[in-house]
Amino acid sequence: MLKKQKIYIETYGCQMNVCDSGKVVHLFANLGYQPTSDSRTADLIVINTCSVREKPELKLFSALGRYIPLKRQRPELVIAVGGCVAQQWGRKLLERCPGLDIVFGTHQLDHLPRLVAEVRGSQKALSVTDFLARPGGLEVMASPAPATVSAMVTIMQGCDNFCSYCIVPHVRGREYSRPGSAIVEEVRRLAESGVKEVMLLGQNVNSYGLKASGEISFAELLGQVNEISGIERIRFTTSHPKDMSYELILAFATLPKLCPSLHLPLQAGSDAVLKRMGRGYTAASYLEKVEKLRQVVPDIALTTDIIVGFPGESEADFQQTLTMLEEVGYDQIYSFKYSTRPGTRAADYDDIISDEEKRERLARCQARQNEISQALLRAQVGKIAEVLVSGSSKRGEGEWSGRTPESRIVNFPAPVLTSGKIAAGDLYQVKIVEAFKHSLKGEVVADAGS
Ligand code: 5AD
Ligand code: SF4
Repeated sequence: MLKKQKIYIETYGCQMNVCDSGKVVHLFANLGYQPTSDSRTADLIVINTCSVREKPELKLFSALGRYIPLKRQRPELVIAVGGCVAQQWGRKLLERCPGLDIVFGTHQLDHLPRLVAEVRGSQKALSVTDFLARPGGLEVMASPAPATVSAMVTIMQGCDNFCSYCIVPHVRGREYSRPGSAIVEEVRRLAESGVKEVMLLGQNVNSYGLKASGEISFAELLGQVNEISGIERIRFTTSHPKDMSYELILAFATLPKLCPSLHLPLQAGSDAVLKRMGRGYTAASYLEKVEKLRQVVPDIALTTDIIVGFPGESEADFQQTLTMLEEVGYDQIYSFKYSTRPGTRAADYDDIISDEEKRERLARCQARQNEISQALLRAQVGKIAEVLVSGSSKRGEGEWSGRTPESRIVNFPAPVLTSGKIAAGDLYQVKIVEAFKHSLKGEVVADAGS
């Protein structure tokens, strides 16, 4: 019998990359490859990269420094780099990293098996980074398909917004929306395989379908996914505040499966900074959307992205970001020091903020947010929440873990059940008894059905 080939895959960056890596695993599983978590035993190493900031980009070079020498013992090993850094560097990455076999761009994911077959056993190195009108790989289902509780479904790729700091439109290409019918079919298949929760992914889901003639809107797509039996929860990311339509806000009230949680990247609280970022909204118009959302779903949990130290950001500008954190009351933020991305408009801006200043602002921003997050978690104590079990808790000790509809993590001891064993995918009513730094502790009061 032929020995099974092994694929090792490493993923940096966003959820879309995680989803893409699932697709790569699926493509190679069809060819008989088995995933492995040990790079030293792999026949194929794939690194799925991110270039949104400099740090994940640097990570790639250190990973290649570890993996390329493995070829001395395993000359058959093929190493491929995909994702945003691959797209940006193309052939230059092969020149910089001798021993690297394949560079595949963000529209070329489905070509990887062919590229691997072509380079295996040869001295060839290949780089394929063309942009296509319809990015390849979007119709490949991510793996593993069998009974996971939550699954990610990419609904669109690319971005046309060109925020001045952002590399994404340059490396992911123009916005492309998958046909609504294909997305609904994929979610239906996931539901049949036991998936209870779907996360719909795109760089800017709010503009889903707008540029494809005859396509449904994002709110309509959510409506169709809401009808699929077996699916209990729907989430999506990422929304651009400027494109957050009233139709979409209303969907939170009308679609029972749409979870009351939303990631709405603010980036900065100062109108002057927002203008230089090219975001297309002001602090006041952002707050207006938040207010409308809260009229429709008073308890909606909001999260956001913040960049500190954008060129020209004064202390007064930065203070306005802190004020926005207070005014909105985010559950959580993802905050970053501004990182210059070559090729973007902001790379030519002057009035650079020193790294020391950026670090200091980031620390202040995170400290302020920690207090806000803590107060919000503490306010949950005593409430009853519906928890979708994702698995046993990281802390072990017989505890289980899951999320509330607002996406707050709840750990709880296994209850004494009348209806058999607890399992991932179960829904329980849980009373929140304690708040920790990033999670809650609860006690089961009932099965969701009872
Ligand atoms: N520097 C720092 N953060 C950035 N982001 C995007 N580009 C940059 C950059 N050049 C952040 C934004 C975005 C998130 C995915 O990454 O906050 O929402
Ligand atoms: Fe980047 Fe702006 Fe597009 Fe988001 S909306 S991916 S920040 S260009």
